[in-house]
Amino acid sequence: MIVMYEELKELMARKLEKAGLQPSHAEIVADVLAHADARGIHSHGAMRTEYYAERIAKGGITVDPDFKFTKTTPGTAVLDADNGAGHVAAKEAMEHAIGMARENGTAVVGIRRMSHSGAMSYFVQQAAEAGMIGISLCQSDPMVVPFGGAEPYFGTNPLAFAAPGKGDDKIIFDMATSVQAWGKILHARSKGESIPDTWAVDADGVPTTDPFKVTGLLPIAGPKGYGLMMMVDILSGVLLGLPFGKHVSSMYHDLTAGRELGQLHIVIDPGAFTSADLFRQNISGMMKELNEVKPAPGFDQVLYPGQNTTLQEQESMKNGIEIVDDILAYLRSDTVHNNQYDHKDPFAK
Ligand code: NAI
Repeated sequence: MIVMYEELKELMARKLEKAGLQPSHAEIVADVLAHADARGIHSHGAMRTEYYAERIAKGGITVDPDFKFTKTTPGTAVLDADNGAGHVAAKEAMEHAIGMARENGTAVVGIRRMSHSGAMSYFVQQAAEAGMIGISLCQSDPMVVPFGGAEPYFGTNPLAFAAPGKGDDKIIFDMATSVQAWGKILHARSKGESIPDTWAVDADGVPTTDPFKVTGLLPIAGPKGYGLMMMVDILSGVLLGLPFGKHVSSMYHDLTAGRELGQLHIVIDPGAFTSADLFRQNISGMMKELNEVKPAPGFDQVLYPGQNTTLQEQESMKNGIEIVDDILAYLRSDTVHNNQYDHKDPFAK
């Protein structure tokens, strides 16, 4: 069913509040989730609300966190998020990073001891809207086999990048370092479809087309993606003194405990390196030139990285967002959660 952004956000905010989150935090989490759905990233939108509601209700997200922001040098800082809602911590840390980059030209801000923060695009967009380059990286729970491995070690560790162009132009690129999200395997299971043999492996580490045999996802681009997901974990986990690799807490293992996750924001003021106006002009120029590249057979147009989600967002803001009926029914119901996520094995059939 189609819902407008504001209604979707309101429904999610009220549900999270009902689960126990304070209203100002519920507003922010709902905004990040609605942002993901509007951009067509449904894996990190409304479908996550019930999971968060269960975790909040069971105490695994601190509802009145004591955020401690420590500036460690003029250009670096750490926010200890006390296992509060990750979306709120990541948004607040990005606001600090933007302010610091305005003063120093660059800023690196780590967030430690946070909960899951959803789609990284939201946070790098904050930087681009402030005229800055934004990069954000975060850890996630182990589901991906290392190159050549038969058991998971790293998470789907995403990285996002945004840069401002002229006026409202901006590039927002945001990707997991695994070939596919776990949600795509579940989708194939639910439809009884096979999956391409490039997505995942079975218990012996052999690529499989049977979604029910999957026990590990594959990194993008073989050893190169494997190296990238390691880099993300080092920068957002090891660097912040947090559990890393296979020690990162599971999304579902214990919903009564904080997740202790890490995320890193890097913000660069283009004006510290070149003329900010020239930078923005050249970003817009690059976006335009990419759109003008001769398309290959089967393609109507070359898009700049991330443009598909930006186009989807423009369409969603005008005509509404398609949300699965069951999810909308849950959001509109009085149910806080159905006790279905705690101790769930993510690979269970
Ligand atoms: P995806 O595979 O749908 O897209 C990856 C990137 O490629 C996007 O920027 C997309 O706009 C771009 N793209 C796709 N098709 C394109 C085309 N034809 N032309 C130009 N650009 C194109 O995204 P993925 O990897 O499934 O990630 C989805 C979301 O999941 C992201 O928002 C990510 O931050 C989030 N995520 C969050 C995690 C967490 O623990 N918080 C863990 C893993 C992912």
